[in-house]
Amino acid sequence: MFYSHYRTVDCALAAGYRLFDTAAVYQNELFLGYALRKLLPKHGLTREDVFVTTKLSPAALSGDLVADAFRKSFDNIGLDYIDLYLIHFPGAAKVNAQSPQNKELRIEAWKEFIKLYDQGKVKAIGVSNFTITHLTELIEATGIEPMVNQVEWHPHYFQPDLLQYCDSHNIRLQAYCSFGGLAVSNNTLMEETIVRQTYAKYKATPAQVLLAWSLQRGVAVIPKSLTPHRIKSNIQINFRLTQEDLAQLDTLGAANIKYSWDPKLVA
Ligand SMILES: NC(=O)c1ccc[n+]([C@@H]2O[C@H](COP(=O)([O-])OP(=O)(O)OC[C@H]3O[C@@H](n4cnc5c(N)ncnc54)[C@H](OP(=O)(O)O)[C@@H]3O)[C@@H](O)[C@H]2O)c1
Repeated sequence: MFYSHYRTVDCALAAGYRLFDTAAVYQNELFLGYALRKLLPKHGLTREDVFVTTKLSPAALSGDLVADAFRKSFDNIGLDYIDLYLIHFPGAAKVNAQSPQNKELRIEAWKEFIKLYDQGKVKAIGVSNFTITHLTELIEATGIEPMVNQVEWHPHYFQPDLLQYCDSHNIRLQAYCSFGGLAVSNNTLMEETIVRQTYAKYKATPAQVLLAWSLQRGVAVIPKSLTPHRIKSNIQINFRLTQEDLAQLDTLGAANIKYSWDPKLVA
């Protein structure tokens, strides 16, 4: 497993990827840091050429636990600094999703994130899986907007009102699950007729069409693959979808299929 991750990072750097997304809960911070330390020189790159994101585990969503959790992630990754630190989820582990305690805990945690940023320990701070309500509460309580909100975002599940809110607050929306449920072996989105017709038109891959759809709406993407030819093709998007293509793909939103955990259930 370690060797295959190492080869994946090697292949990604060669293909031109510069953003690496990890998290305490993925338990791969150590692997990623090791691979980057070894491989950056091989590719003629330095620490400044890459962007590393990690995330606070829901098990550490509490003001008291952030400093230690950050230190652990920082030590695991073992690079000079972390580019972006995110609150992984608005709900705390082992707290009932409907409990008002979640709100208190994420506000406390966000105050600690602001301290980490003010102390120069991390270059940017943000959140993940936050709804408009979660974002509004955080901003009202602290006056500080997250720089990024990483959320599930693909033609089967996207939220124009969330994008509009984030745009108006200078929060960069970043998509995960760009391929719908593929990460959990569900090909439904890739096999949609509209997706098939669009990729045939551009002689592209379905994955490229789905990534282009997000990017052209101003939503950043972080696609994942362990397969060398997919790693290469996912970053080679040499076409632009027309407004009509974008609108056609948008119609898939009527399905409203969510494949990952649902923050709307968290009070
Ligand atoms: N913040 C959160 O709560 C959250 C949740 C989930 C994920 N994430 C982050 O999002 C990033 C992306 O992960 P994801 O889970 O959303 O997965 P994803 O990028 O949507 O999909 C990954 C899956 O797609 C397959 N795939 C990749 N390129 C393909 C292509 N061109 N053709 C066909 N299949 C292709 C991969 O298979 P192979 O590997 O076999 O190629 C893998 O099974 C990760 O870095 C993760 O850190 C964040």
